[in-house]
Amino acid sequence: MDQIVANHKLLQPGDYESFQQYLQGVCGIVLGSGKEYLVTSRLSSLMRSNDIESVGDLLQQVRNGRNRHLQVSIIDAMTTNETFWFRDLSHFQMLTDMILPEAQAKPGRSMRIWSAACSSGQEPYNISMTVEKYLSENPKSLPGGVDILGTDISSQILEEAKKGLYCGLSASRGLDVEAQQRYFIPQGECLEIRPEIRNRVKFRSQNIMDSYTLLGRFDVVFCRNILIYFSAEKKADIIERIAQILNPGGYLFLGSTESMVSHSDEFEMVRRGGGIVYRLK
Ligand SMILES: C[S@@+](CC[C@H](N)C(=O)[O-])C[C@H]1O[C@@H](n2cnc3c(N)ncnc32)[C@H](O)[C@@H]1O
Repeated sequence: MDQIVANHKLLQPGDYESFQQYLQGVCGIVLGSGKEYLVTSRLSSLMRSNDIESVGDLLQQVRNGRNRHLQVSIIDAMTTNETFWFRDLSHFQMLTDMILPEAQAKPGRSMRIWSAACSSGQEPYNISMTVEKYLSENPKSLPGGVDILGTDISSQILEEAKKGLYCGLSASRGLDVEAQQRYFIPQGECLEIRPEIRNRVKFRSQNIMDSYTLLGRFDVVFCRNILIYFSAEKKADIIERIAQILNPGGYLFLGSTESMVSHSDEFEMVRRGGGIVYRLK
């Protein structure tokens, strides 16, 4: 009962609707109706530590780009960073069976892969592990190397990704013992990414709603388990803009519950080994 009263005080009439609009505007995330509890539970400690009494007051402080630091903290609190190792395994199998051999047939330049919305780093490090294994089985292939860029909007989660140190559930979820031994160095109860896996990966902050032109061009983009949070228009816009920065014949991976239906004529769907990837026509 006390909790309900406390939540009521944090959200004055109209605050929830204003917050929905604000969040969609800054990072594209669409909060449906009835998510009041999610908002108050995720924001309450941030508001307490900043002496802010209601979500309306919080919005006042961040409107028009005022208080950037607080804005970043709101995004950190509201984003869902759920991820795990080798999520949608068929995607990594397609890299090994189809995409890396195609790149090998076009020697001379480095291959570039973007993990957009990389969360705590499992996705870009998994791409690097897949490349490492491929190179151990196909020595001297890919002489130009493979560069992997991991980006996310959440500054907090990017710091974790850069550390490359995983403890508890995040050191085991999706990893078998062989992968733990092959790609990590034990650090007490935790596992640290090996340098040869880490060296291929760079991280930077990027809001997927903003322009991609400074990122350069890519051969493969992983944009998985993020589009589900966006409106249909935003989703279509993001897919169109990814098409513009993919090299000809480049590939786009979406999450297994996400699809491109009616979003783009520029891609063809390729099915392989139970997985789906979209190839730029
Ligand atoms: C559910 S995780 C997906 C992580 C990983 N791609 C995977 O499939 O396991 C979604 C990530 O999207 C990030 N995110 C949310 N809105 C974003 C935005 N506008 N721009 C970039 N990243 C965003 C969150 O911070 C979070 O780390």
